[in-house]
Amino acid sequence: MTVRANGDRLQQVLINLLSNAVKYNPAAAPRIVLRAEARGDQVHVDVTDNGGGVARDEAELIFEKFARGGRADRGYGAGLGLPISKAIARAMGGDLTVEFRPDGSSFFRLHLPRETAAAAPLAATS
Ligand SMILES: Nc1ncnc2c1ncn2[C@@H]1O[C@H](COP(=O)(O)OP(=O)(O)O)[C@@H](O)[C@H]1O
Ligand SMILES: [Mg+2]
Repeated sequence: MTVRANGDRLQQVLINLLSNAVKYNPAAAPRIVLRAEARGDQVHVDVTDNGGGVARDEAELIFEKFARGGRADRGYGAGLGLPISKAIARAMGGDLTVEFRPDGSSFFRLHLPRETAAAAPLAATS
C-alpha cells in the first residue's frame, strides 16, 4: 500500500508518537506496536502501547497546545508534540486521533490519504 504524504513530515509525526509511547509507558515490560492498514481511500497507521493509555477526559485536551496529561511527570516535554502532529496530518489531508481503550492501552491513529493508481498524477504521462 502507498500513502500520499511528505516523507520528512510523516517521519516527524511517527517519531512523536513512538517517543511518547516510550516516555509515557511505566510498564515493567513495555510493548509498542506500530501497524499500517489500508481502509478504503485511507491508510491507518496505528501506534499502541501498554502503558496505561490516555484517560477518557484527556483525549481532547492532549491535542491542545502546551497541554500535558496525567503522565507528564514521567518526562520533560512542552506539550507540543501531539498538536503539531495533528496539524501536520491535517495539512497532508489526513488526521490524528486517539481512542480511549477500556483495557488501558493507548491507541493513536494516523489517518492518511491512500495513493491509488488512479490518483497518481504521473500515471497518465507515459
Ligand atoms: N502513549 C501515551 N500514553 C499515555 N499518555 C500519552 C501518550 N502520548 C501522549 N500522552 C499524553 O499526552 C500529553 C501530550 O503529549 P505531547 O503533545 O506529545 O506533549 P509532551 O510529550 O511534550 O507532554 C502528554 O503529556 C501525556 O500526558
Ligand atoms: Mg510528546
